[in-house]
Formats: sequence, structure tokens, C-alpha cells
Amino acid sequence: MELTRVAISALFLLLAFGSSSAKVEEENPEFWRSQAKQTLQSVLDRELNTNVAKNILFFLGDGMGITTYTAARILKGQLQNQTGEETVMTMDTFPSVGLAKTYSVDFQIADSAATATAYLCGVKTNLNTIGVSAATRNGVCKSQKGNEVTSILKWAKDAGKSVGIVTTTRVQHATPAATYAHTASRKWYSDADMPAGAKKDGCTDISSQLLSNTDIDVIIGGGRKYMTPRGTKDPEYPRDYSSWGKRKDGRDLIKEWQSMKFGKVAHYVWNKTDFDAVDPETTDYLMALFEPGDLRFEADRDPNMDPSIVETTEKAIRILQKNPKGFFLLVEGGRIDQAHHAGRAYMALHEAVALDYAIAKGLELTKENETLTIVMADHSHPMTFNGYPFRGQSILGKSPLWAMDVLPYTTLMYGNGPGHKVANGTRPDIRNVNTKTKDYVQLAAVPTESATHSGEDVAVLARGPMAHLFQGVQEQNYIAHAMAYAACVGADQRQRGQRCS
Ligand SMILES: *[C@@H]1O[C@H](CO)[C@@H](O)[C@H](O)[C@H]1NC(C)=O
Ligand SMILES: *[C@@H]1O[C@H](CO)[C@@H](O)[C@H](O)[C@H]1NC(C)=O
Ligand SMILES: *[C@@H]1O[C@H](CO)[C@@H](O)[C@H](O)[C@H]1NC(C)=O
Ligand SMILES: *[C@@H]1O[C@H](CO)[C@@H](O)[C@H](O)[C@H]1NC(C)=O
Ligand SMILES: [Zn+2]
Repeated sequence: MELTRVAISALFLLLAFGSSSAKVEEENPEFWRSQAKQTLQSVLDRELNTNVAKNILFFLGDGMGITTYTAARILKGQLQNQTGEETVMTMDTFPSVGLAKTYSVDFQIADSAATATAYLCGVKTNLNTIGVSAATRNGVCKSQKGNEVTSILKWAKDAGKSVGIVTTTRVQHATPAATYAHTASRKWYSDADMPAGAKKDGCTDISSQLLSNTDIDVIIGGGRKYMTPRGTKDPEYPRDYSSWGKRKDGRDLIKEWQSMKFGKVAHYVWNKTDFDAVDPETTDYLMALFEPGDLRFEADRDPNMDPSIVETTEKAIRILQKNPKGFFLLVEGGRIDQAHHAGRAYMALHEAVALDYAIAKGLELTKENETLTIVMADHSHPMTFNGYPFRGQSILGKSPLWAMDVLPYTTLMYGNGPGHKVANGTRPDIRNVNTKTKDYVQLAAVPTESATHSGEDVAVLARGPMAHLFQGVQEQNYIAHAMAYAACVGADQRQRGQRCS
């Protein structure tokens, strides 16, 4: 076939080019031998760390599947003018790596609500439900009663530690909500989002549970509009009706939170000026809500109005680490997922790179011998990494190979999503399209309004006390139990014996 021959000769051309673009030092076998020797020595030198984890620093990349992880590494290097493939991200330096199986009790491919309940509360559950067991039915308030399960954040608080959540989404979103809320529906952000029947049956919205459940020392993210009465103008966008307060019950949860903390040093802030003025040394409580809903993507962030995830992570750690008993902190890069849903690889990868910088900040502010640091994803996305770009070619670029339809394609594409396009019976011709811009939507094989999640295992990376527990291929709910064991928190202290006393 003519087209096949075209493709084969293109591949030969590519191999010829490929070898000439390799780095000179890499042509010397000693380069690889000495690199491997150094790695081997550092692995041999590792000692098992069986300390009790005083602190747990838990980084969650929402939707940060392994393809995203690899592609973000290459992007991080390329943003520093490296070829990128050989770049070492901060998360790459973690000594223990395992895989987590992400399926929920009812679905092969899970969402952030069911997965967060697994890795934070230690119990697998159904899609769309948070902080409840699988005996709860999605959206059915009555089925939630008596089926609540608590999280590692609560276990840490009960053990006397300080606790916090930092996210780039609204603080009521599925991942952070699983640290404090119990709800048959992840969508019950405010009472206005709940059906009348659910309210009548005694269920409460996620925002009100943020105040009434575990006493959380640091709360940073977005989500102001779910906290204030309907019609309350947003301080940042007073003319944007959609950002006004949503609550029908008339409660102002921000004011209530402030009065609950009377007698403590508690700050509520909604912009960077006030955030920067918060002195962690004297602050007991911080609630920072920078947007009415989710925060902006890092690439769209206004640095004068909103801090970065690196800055929010630092502030949270500095406030929490004053507690001599230690802390638990969840830091979520929550919008990797949302960018993937929109088919925007640029945004997803930049969010993942920002998370890696926050991880670096976390390591800088804590000690490895007393802080268990975990990095993981909740679930993956159907983004693929297609052959064969040259070494060092932009991860957001196009393959030098053309397909059988004699059209180029991007290195990153989606199995489904909004990027599906057919014009005149063929794929769009992207020869003259700049695929490296932040708004570019990659091609998808199947048209869906929003890309779905995907079901392959996710990586779990660990560093610090008991990091070696996070190895092998495990069920995702194991993570909460292993963290609890490492830190000597949670209900079942018996197994832990002398280690914890
Ligand atoms: C990378 O190279 C570009 C163009 O030469 C330069 O503008 C930029 O500052 C460099 N960035 C880094 C991190 O070295
Ligand atoms: C930040 O918030 C404070 C408190 O509401 C307000 O006084 C100040 O003007 C805000 N700053 C900006 C830049 O909007
Ligand atoms: C951790 O190391 C520091 C010195 O860097 C030491 O002071 C501290 O006691 C160690 N903590 C534990 C739990 O071993
Ligand atoms: C489809 O083909 C027609 C005729 O060649 C051309 O005018 C038109 O621009 C094409 N449409 C797209 C979306 O490529
Ligand atoms: Zn999602």
C-alpha cells in the first residue's frame, strides 16, 4: 500500500534524524554506566526509616495519571531549556513507588469522590459519594445515615495534630471534602444544591459540614459563593451575578467561622495582599478563599490577586508546624483533572508542574526523618503519548510522522473529549496550527463534551517514615491505613504496639 510505504520511509528518515540529534555525551557508554552506578549506590545506601511520622504531607494530583506524570516531567525540563526526558522532578526523587488500583465499588473507572473516600478514609465506596461506605446510594440522603466513615485528617486531629487542606479547586470539591464531609452526593456544595427531600431527611450541605465536623486549622482554596447568603455580592466580582452567594438558608458561613474562632488568632482572607499579611507564627486558624468557585489555572492566575500553590503550601505548613505534635496537610493540585476534561494538555501539564514545585517547597520546609510525604493521583485520564517525536521535541508539539491520512498529529491526544473534529471527512489539518498554546484542545478519537476519566492504576510515591509501606500493587483504600500506621493515628492502635508508645 502506498500510504504504508510513505509511513515506513518517513520512519527511516526519522531514525536517521533522531540519532543525529542525540546528545554527544550520551553516545559514550560510560555516561550511562556511571549514571547507573551512582543510582545503584544511592539505592544501596538507603536505610529503612521506621520512625513514627510526626507529620503527614499528602500531595494529590487530581487526574494525574502516569502519562500526565511523564509528560509533565518533560515539560518541566523543557521550560528550563532542557530536552526534558532526562529531567528529574521533585516527585521522581521519592524512594518508594507503588501502584494503586482505583476502581470504585460500583464502577470500573472511578471519580474523585469515591477515590478520595478510599485513600483518605480507608474504605472503597460508590461513585459521587464522599465520606460514606458503599451501603450509601448516590444522591439518596436516607441511605447515608449510619454509613459515615471518617478520614485520616480527623484521626490526626483526634491525636492532637494540627490539620489543613490546600487546594486549587473550591474547598467543597470532592477531594478536600472527603477529609471532613459525609455526603451521598458530591454536588451538595451548598444547601441550594440539595433537593428538598434530602434536606427534609436531615442531610446537610458540604460547606456547612466544613464548619460543623472536624476543627480544621488551615483551609485554603476557592468556593466563597457556597458560604454566603443568596444575592451576597462577591468582593472581587461584584458585578458578576454568577459569583454571588448561593445559600438559601441565609447563613453566612464565613462570618460564623470567624465568630466560632473568637479568642483565637483566626484570619479570613480572599486576596493575596491580605494572605501575604498573615503571619504564620502568630496565626492559629486561616481560611483563605480566593475565588467564588475554583481557582484559576496557574497559567491564567493573576499573581497580584491570588497566590500560587507553592505559596499556599508554604503558608499552610508554616502555620501547622508550630504544633509540637505535628500535622496532617492535604495539598491538592485539583485542576489537572479539569484541564484534561477540557482536552487541554497544556493546562493539565502546567498544573502538574506547579504541583511539583509545591512538593519541592514542602520538602524544603520539613525534615525527612519525621515527615511522611506522599504524592499520588486519584485516577487517570485517557490522554495518550504517541510516537515518535525526536528527543527533546516539545511535548506539546506534533509527531514528525504523519498518519495514513497523510496528516500530522500531536504527541499528546485523547481517547475521548471535546477535541474530536471531522471536516470534509478527515481529521483537521494541523500543519499550520500552533499546538503549543495554552488554549489548544488536542484531538480526541471520540466526541464527548468532557473527556472522561480512565481506569488504569495510578502511581503512589512516598518518602520519610514508613515510606516502604507504599510499595507493590495495592487497593487504593490501603493508603489511608498505611499513613495512619506510619503516624500512629486512627482507631486501631492495637496492631501498632510498642512502636507508638
Ligand atoms: C530558555 O531560553 C529562552 C530563549 O533563549 C530564554 O528566553 C529563557 O530565559 C530560557 N529559560 C531558562 C529557564 O533558562
Ligand atoms: C483584599 O481584601 C481586603 C479585605 O476585604 C480589602 O480591604 C482589600 O481592598 C482587598 N485588596 C484588593 C487588592 O482587592
Ligand atoms: C531528625 O533529625 C534531626 C537532625 O536533623 C534531629 O534533631 C531529630 O531528632 C531527628 N528526629 C527523629 C524523629 O529522628
Ligand atoms: C471543505 O472542503 C471545501 C472544498 O474543498 C473547502 O472550501 C472547505 O474549506 C473545507 N472545510 C474545512 C473545514 O476544511
Ligand atoms: Zn474529573
